[in-house]
Amino acid sequence: MPNVPSAPDPASGAAALEELWRLVEPFGGWLTRDQAGRLWEAAAAVPNGGRIVEIGSHQAKSTAILAAAMSSGVGLTAIDPFDPAFEAGHDQARTAFENNLRTVRLRDRVDLVMALSQDVLHGWDQPIDLLYIDGAHDPTSVRRDLGWLDHVRPGGQVLVHDSFSSVGVTVVLYGRVLPDRRLRYTGRSGSLAAFRCASPTAASRLAMLAQLPWFIRNVVVKVARRLHLMPVARLLGHTDPRYDPF
Ligand SMILES: C[S@@+](CC[C@H](N)C(=O)[O-])C[C@H]1O[C@@H](n2cnc3c(N)ncnc32)[C@H](O)[C@@H]1O
Repeated sequence: MPNVPSAPDPASGAAALEELWRLVEPFGGWLTRDQAGRLWEAAAAVPNGGRIVEIGSHQAKSTAILAAAMSSGVGLTAIDPFDPAFEAGHDQARTAFENNLRTVRLRDRVDLVMALSQDVLHGWDQPIDLLYIDGAHDPTSVRRDLGWLDHVRPGGQVLVHDSFSSVGVTVVLYGRVLPDRRLRYTGRSGSLAAFRCASPTAASRLAMLAQLPWFIRNVVVKVARRLHLMPVARLLGHTDPRYDPF
C-alpha cells in the first residue's frame, strides 16, 4: 500500500493550508495559491451545521480546499455534470475528481451531485452559508447561477471565480450585481471575487467599478494570446502562455 498523504487538520490554519496546497497544486484546474487561501478562510468561517455549495468542481482543486477547511459539522455540495458538452467538462475530470479527493482523504466530506446547477437549483430547499460559483462562464449561465442567491443566508458569503477576467462573468457582475441590492463586494484574489449577502455601500460599488482597468487589461491579454502576441501579454505582466488570466 503506497504511503498516501492525509488531509491536514483544518484547525491548524495557515500551516495546514500550506501542507494541503502542496498536495492540491498539481491537480488539474484553475486556482492560485492566493485564491486557495480565500476559499480556505471562507469555508473555515462557515458555522457548524452550515452548508457550502460549489458550482463547477472539475478535478476537485477548489473542492479539496473547501472540504479541508470546513469544520466537520458543515456540509459541502459539489455540483458538476462532467459533461463533455461543457468547457472543461469530461469523463476524465470525473475520474480525476474522485481520485484527487481520495488522495487527500477528503472524498467522504463531499456530496457530489452530477447534474447541471440549474436543475439542482430547481429542487433545492436548504439555506446556504457559502456559495462558490465557478461553472459555465457565459452570461446566461452566470445569471442563472446567481439564482442560487435566493438560498444564501443574510450575511452569507458568495465567491465568484473568473470575475473581471471572463467577459461573460464580468458583464453579469456589472449589469446585474452592481445595481442589485443583495450583494456587497468585499475584494478579490486575482479573478476570485468575494461578496457578502448584504446591502452594497457606495464604497463597495465604487470598489467594483475600480476593477474595470484590470478587466480591460485581462481582455487585452486574452486577445494578445489568441494572436500569438505573447510579448504584449508579458508587457502587461502575464507570463504564463498556457492560460488566460485567472
Ligand atoms: C472552470 S471549471 C471549474 C474549476 C474548478 N472549480 C477548479 O478549482 O479547478 C468549470 C466546471 O463547471 C462545470 N459546469 C459547466 N456548466 C455547469 C453547470 N451548468 N452546472 C454545474 N457545473 C457546470 C464544467 O463541467 C467544469 O468542470
